[in-house]
Amino acid sequence: MKIRHVIESQQFTVPALMELFALADNMERVLARGGTSDYRGRIMALLFYEHSTRTRFSFESAMLRLGGSILATESAHQFSSVMLGETLEDTVRVVSNYSDVIVIRSDEVGGAARAAAVASVPVINAGDGKGGQHPTQALLDLYTIHREIKTIDGVKIAMVGNLADGRTVRSLSYLLSKFERVKLYFIAPKQLRMRQDIIDYLHHHNVWYTEEEDLRKIINEVDVVYMTRLGPSEREGVEPKHFFMDESLMKLLPSKAIVMHPLPRASEISPEVDADPRSAYFRQTRNGILVRMALLASVLEG
Ligand code: CP
Repeated sequence: MKIRHVIESQQFTVPALMELFALADNMERVLARGGTSDYRGRIMALLFYEHSTRTRFSFESAMLRLGGSILATESAHQFSSVMLGETLEDTVRVVSNYSDVIVIRSDEVGGAARAAAVASVPVINAGDGKGGQHPTQALLDLYTIHREIKTIDGVKIAMVGNLADGRTVRSLSYLLSKFERVKLYFIAPKQLRMRQDIIDYLHHHNVWYTEEEDLRKIINEVDVVYMTRLGPSEREGVEPKHFFMDESLMKLLPSKAIVMHPLPRASEISPEVDADPRSAYFRQTRNGILVRMALLASVLEG
């Protein structure tokens, strides 16, 4: 599969997703033999303008497992020439000369698209701004559902937490909309409801959705509970037990359902839930390596 840039979830078709997932399955075998040297001499540049643990390390690990090398700047505002007022466009034009692929986490919605517009190498969006997108997270989330639930058509998923600002739930909603008979349950405090652009998109694509303010009301109906971070400042005036997962709520979750979270978590999933086999969030992080290896291989072949 050949991909040029990875900017937003809408760019993927269902056949392309299935091809990517088959490649990710293959990468599990590559990992089991300690990686490959197939991409020796290829260089990935990471430009991160925001903090990250999973996305940054999993891209680094993915490239190293493929045999490639890495150039990285974390806190790019502080540790690159951005500090001197260099524009994103100039930085990307220059870094294009030093690398074969650029992975960017921008603090501005549309930052990755701006980078792609001037780059002479593929650009991968590793998250852009508050309320932007995080397509590679959504791809690994969808891959996790595909592996764990064995189907995406007909899946019933509750997305819980700050849905207004969460880029993972936005990107995942776009991807799920491509499948048949999917049901989306948005569970958020009133002030953090899913934004209207996503709601309009679901209407336009005839995707079933509902909005609730208490996870307890629908948890027994779903296949996936996708928790997201609800930080201290977002919890003001919120009834905590409506948006938090603990052992008592796990008792209401169907036996074959799973709990996901893009991480990092605040306190919305109680640690006592971690040992439950339905808690898939750490398996989800491992799937991130496989999907990002598959994506890097695809763009480097492009
Ligand atoms: N899930 C996710 O994007 O995590 P990081 O912010 O640690 O990369």
